[in-house]
Amino acid sequence: MTQKKTILITGSTDGIGYEAAKTLIEAGHTVLLHGRNPEKLAAKIEALQPLSSGAKLSGYICDLSSMAEVEQLAASVAADHDTLDVLLNNAGILKTSNPITAQGHDVRFLVNTFAPYRLATRLLPIIPKSGRIINLSSAAQNPIDFDALAGRKQLSEMEAYAQSKLAITIWSRALADEIGKDGPLVVSVNPASLIGTKMVKEGFGIAGKDIRVGADILVESAIGKSFEGRSGEYFDNDAGAFGRTHPHAENPAMIAKVMAAIEAVMVGLA
Ligand SMILES: NC(=O)c1ccc[n+]([C@@H]2O[C@H](COP(=O)([O-])OP(=O)(O)OC[C@H]3O[C@@H](n4cnc5c(N)ncnc54)[C@H](OP(=O)(O)O)[C@@H]3O)[C@@H](O)[C@H]2O)c1
Repeated sequence: MTQKKTILITGSTDGIGYEAAKTLIEAGHTVLLHGRNPEKLAAKIEALQPLSSGAKLSGYICDLSSMAEVEQLAASVAADHDTLDVLLNNAGILKTSNPITAQGHDVRFLVNTFAPYRLATRLLPIIPKSGRIINLSSAAQNPIDFDALAGRKQLSEMEAYAQSKLAITIWSRALADEIGKDGPLVVSVNPASLIGTKMVKEGFGIAGKDIRVGADILVESAIGKSFEGRSGEYFDNDAGAFGRTHPHAENPAMIAKVMAAIEAVMVGLA
C-alpha cells in the first residue's frame, strides 16, 4: 500500500489542480486545498468532501500576488502541520484584467515565479528529505527581461507569462542544486500544452486537450515512482519524458544572474 502523504496544491479551485486534488483525495492522501476566492474555495471543498472517506478537508485562502498573504499562507500551513510531504506549486495566471499591481509589478511574475519561490523556501523546514516540491512550468519559456522582472517595464501578457515560466524553471534548478541530493526533490513540470482549462479557454479561445492529461502528470509528479531521483530536472509532458529546457535554465552563469535578480526584487515585495 502506498504511504499516505500530506500535499498542498496551490490553485486547487480550478483546472488541473482541482482535478489532481480529486484523484489524490480519493486515493486517501491529505490534500490541503488553496484558492484566492473564499466562496469558490468553499464550494470546491463541499464538492470534494464526499471523496475523502470522512476526513475533513481543509482549505487556505491566499492571493498569491500579495507576498504578505503568501507569508501568512506558509505560516498557517506550518502551524497546522508538522510535515508537508509535497508542495505542488500549481497556481498560475496568464490573462487578467489587472495585470499590474499598485507597486508596479506584473502579476505573472508575482503568482507564477515569486510566490511559489517564497512558499518553497518558507515551507522547506517542514518538508522531509523524502518530500517533493513540484513547480508548474510551461513549454512557453522566454528569456527574462530584468527590468520587467523588477517591475520597471511592462510586457504583453504572453511575454510576461513565458518569462515568468522560464524564471520558475530556473529557480527550481537552483533550489535543487542548493538542497542537494540528500534533501527534498525539486522538479519543474510542463503539464502539456493547451490543456482545456479556464486559462486556455480564456487565453486562447479554444476547447483544448482533456484536463486529465495535466492532472495525471501532477499526480505522478507528486507521488509517482517515475519522479524519484530526478531532482533538478524538467519534465516535459508534451514529450511525456524528462528533457531539455530553455538553454538559459541550463547555463550556470544565467541561473546565478536570475537568482540574484529574484532575490533582489523579493526583498522589496510586500
Ligand atoms: N492549461 C495548460 O495548457 C497549461 C500549459 C502549461 C502550463 N500550465 C500551468 O499549469 C498550472 C495550472 O493551470 P490551469 O491550466 O489549471 O489554469 P486554471 O484553470 O486557470 O487554474 C489556475 C489556478 O490558479 C489559481 N490562481 C490564479 N491566480 C491566483 C492568485 N493571484 N492567487 C491565488 N490563486 C490564483 C486559480 O484560482 P481561481 O480559481 O480563483 O481562478 C486556479 O485555481 C498553471 O501554473 C499554468 O501556468 C497550464
